[in-house]
Amino acid sequence: MLLKSAGFILLICTLFGCEAAQVERHDVRKFPEGFQFGTSTASYQIEGSWNVDGKAENIWDHMTHNNPCVIADCSNGDVACDSYNQYKRDVEMMRELGIDFYRFSLSWPRILPTSFPDYISEPGSQYYSNLIDELLKYNIEPVVTLYHWDLPQKLQEMGGWTNPHIVDWFADYARVAFTLYGDRVKHWITINEPREVCYQGYGANTKAPALNIKGVADYMCVKNLLLAHAKAYHIFDQEFRPKLNGSIFIALSAQFYEPETEKEIVAAKEANQFEWGIYAHPIFSDTGDYPPIVKEKVAAKSAEQGFFRSRLPEFTPEEVDYVKGTSDYFGLNHYTTFLVYRNESVAGMYDVPSMYDDLGNVHYQPSEWEYGAASVNMRVVPWGFYKLLALIREDFNNPPVFITENGYATFTGLDDTSTRISYLRQYLSALLDAIDEGSDVRAYSLWSLMDNFEWMFGYNSRFGLYEVNFSDPARPRTPRKSAFMYKQMLRTRALDWHYEPDTTVMTIDEGH
Ligand code: BGC
Repeated sequence: MLLKSAGFILLICTLFGCEAAQVERHDVRKFPEGFQFGTSTASYQIEGSWNVDGKAENIWDHMTHNNPCVIADCSNGDVACDSYNQYKRDVEMMRELGIDFYRFSLSWPRILPTSFPDYISEPGSQYYSNLIDELLKYNIEPVVTLYHWDLPQKLQEMGGWTNPHIVDWFADYARVAFTLYGDRVKHWITINEPREVCYQGYGANTKAPALNIKGVADYMCVKNLLLAHAKAYHIFDQEFRPKLNGSIFIALSAQFYEPETEKEIVAAKEANQFEWGIYAHPIFSDTGDYPPIVKEKVAAKSAEQGFFRSRLPEFTPEEVDYVKGTSDYFGLNHYTTFLVYRNESVAGMYDVPSMYDDLGNVHYQPSEWEYGAASVNMRVVPWGFYKLLALIREDFNNPPVFITENGYATFTGLDDTSTRISYLRQYLSALLDAIDEGSDVRAYSLWSLMDNFEWMFGYNSRFGLYEVNFSDPARPRTPRKSAFMYKQMLRTRALDWHYEPDTTVMTIDEGH
């Protein structure tokens, strides 16, 4: 009851800007029985060995080699954390932390250098096999993402996610992966963060391939990506699940969009629909298909602009059914929250056509919100996480949720008590509030195990529980204070606001 009313206060306060959600309300809070903890990484961000053992070029290799200074520090993932050679040390760190599972991704062009299943690279596929065996040796469950943004460059040259043939290309690659590793991997994620793939990669220039063809290429990508995801799901469901009995799901990035005032409720609702509902609604709603408001707004704007059809390619009724219900969990990557308003100033603010022009509102983060140490746009807003989980529970009939990513960026330095640890305590507390209110959250995966290539920010922005020294060829990894906090949380299965590690020496507990 106490927790329920705490949650209620949280809800009321947030609408009117009260900070109640940020106070420490409980000293020690237990996680539910069976709740699973892990950490996440992605192939391009950690592996390095970009051209070793026959691996072909991906869109990040291509972009960073041809135009290095699109990345803040003009760096690339050629070596990154060198996990291609150091995976045993990575697993050792996981044992130090005591995690239940490890979420990592496969590199498509490392396994299939031609992009297609006509040739499977023996050393490339063996790398993941070795990693999986090493994890299982220590009872760490592999959770494998098929696609975390490193598309084979060759497929990009044929249009990448705007080419409808990618549905088959991706499905073939998925089938190869299920066949190679399905005997040992039970949990699969099809695609990481469709919004970043489609909007940032095709509708903007903030991720590879940086096409920046707004309001057209991004929407083409949305449809193809959802069909590709669904096809991989059906292959797994029909051909592999009966033998393997595992799970398969998608990881959506959803930041939360909160109305600035009560009169902006519709604007904020539409922001949530355009930003991530466009992927969630087709999969998790009872009716399937894109959110009706997204369809209406894009169709109306397209007509006004002289297009002969909506720039958002429609699904046929068969496709709606094919995509609906294709995720065993609501995989959720969440970092921060924005406020939303809509007024006359929006006219002329965005490129025409574009997704933001179709949506027609403004989002921002007030300057008084605590900002992220290494990123002003990653403000610390734990109540947004709570509200987002409530919205998912209400809109999609309380699906089982798997937090596939959540985390905080700093710069170098091992003492992250007032930054990462503080963020994690507040966000995990918000997550426990949502669970107390009935959200069915089953697992939490922290981004990230160690510092890695942070996309457009290069190595400036550090998300790791372990710091990596990128100027040392050996890429040594050193635990930050947050690694000790996470370890203690996993040991006790409880969040303790006041835990202070009494050592800086990491060891492996018995049984790990
Ligand atoms: C991505 C990660 C990324 C992290 C931090 C997510 O958008 O999936 O690859 O490093 O956020 O920015």
